[in-house]
Amino acid sequence: MSGFFSLAGKVAVVTGGSSGIGAAIVMRFRAAGAIVVIADRLAPPDEDGEFVRVDVSSEDEVSSALDAVVVKHGKLDLLVNNAGIQPLGVRFEDLTESVLRRTFDVNVNGTIWGIKHGSRLLSPGGRIVNLSSFVGLLGVPAGTAYAASKAAVAHLTKCAALELAPRAITVNAIAPGTILTPAVEGIPGNPEIPFAESRTPMGRLGTPAEVAAAAHFLCSDEASFITGVILPVDGGIAAGWERYDLTLPSEISSDGTWHDPES
Ligand SMILES: NC(=O)c1ccc[n+]([C@@H]2O[C@H](COP(=O)([O-])OP(=O)(O)OC[C@H]3O[C@@H](n4cnc5c(N)ncnc54)[C@H](O)[C@@H]3O)[C@@H](O)[C@H]2O)c1
Repeated sequence: MSGFFSLAGKVAVVTGGSSGIGAAIVMRFRAAGAIVVIADRLAPPDEDGEFVRVDVSSEDEVSSALDAVVVKHGKLDLLVNNAGIQPLGVRFEDLTESVLRRTFDVNVNGTIWGIKHGSRLLSPGGRIVNLSSFVGLLGVPAGTAYAASKAAVAHLTKCAALELAPRAITVNAIAPGTILTPAVEGIPGNPEIPFAESRTPMGRLGTPAEVAAAAHFLCSDEASFITGVILPVDGGIAAGWERYDLTLPSEISSDGTWHDPES
């Protein structure tokens, strides 16, 4: 018997696996014993492991890439729909059709094509994990296209979970907080970094490895009864306000005793 959380013998596809969170998921799944194929628009920096060039916004490309994995490896067990673009900082007044279309084509349609063709091929008991975001759960200014696309990912995760439950295929999403990846660190002087540090209850940004650990758990045999869940990996952001200034009600005395005003 393989060990706890082993992915030995599993065949996985990770979209957007050439960088950031996706690359950390690839590394972690391989360490857990899975055969992992990276499906990305860009090749990974190292040439180890399998790579297929895919633009996830194209249904044909996603469908053919997943078919090719099954032809080569005989099955598909795990699919992580991680590829995404992050056009934050665009207010309604600056939003263009081109930004809106590309954001939804990649983040929403890309995830849908993955689920559509992944579910056609996944083994019973298979796993799908989608990447949402904390901004898909909470409103933020200047995030309309991106935040709405990630809210759509959270919602379609639940729809897919219901459709695939009879085949014991689980569909879950991870909603990361701000994570130190090239998409965040690659912006010179990115003001998001100090801002997110100050607003994240745990006082820091997350790492790709911390998101990968959640993806690993959701893809493990042990997570077989968890489906339709949106799991924040965000240092407490989605838990609520970190500060709430309040006055003790007059019914509570300084020693903590409750005095009912009616008695
Ligand atoms: N970094 C964060 O703070 C953060 C927070 C919440 C959610 N996310 C989400 O996590 C996922 C990964 O983000 P990241 O920060 O690692 O990004 P990243 O930019 O470091 O990596 C994204 C990868 O996706 C690939 N990609 C982009 N468009 C593609 C397309 N059309 N087809 C195929 N591949 C494509 C890129 O080539 C790249 O390898 C994204 O969905 C992102 O929205 C990231």
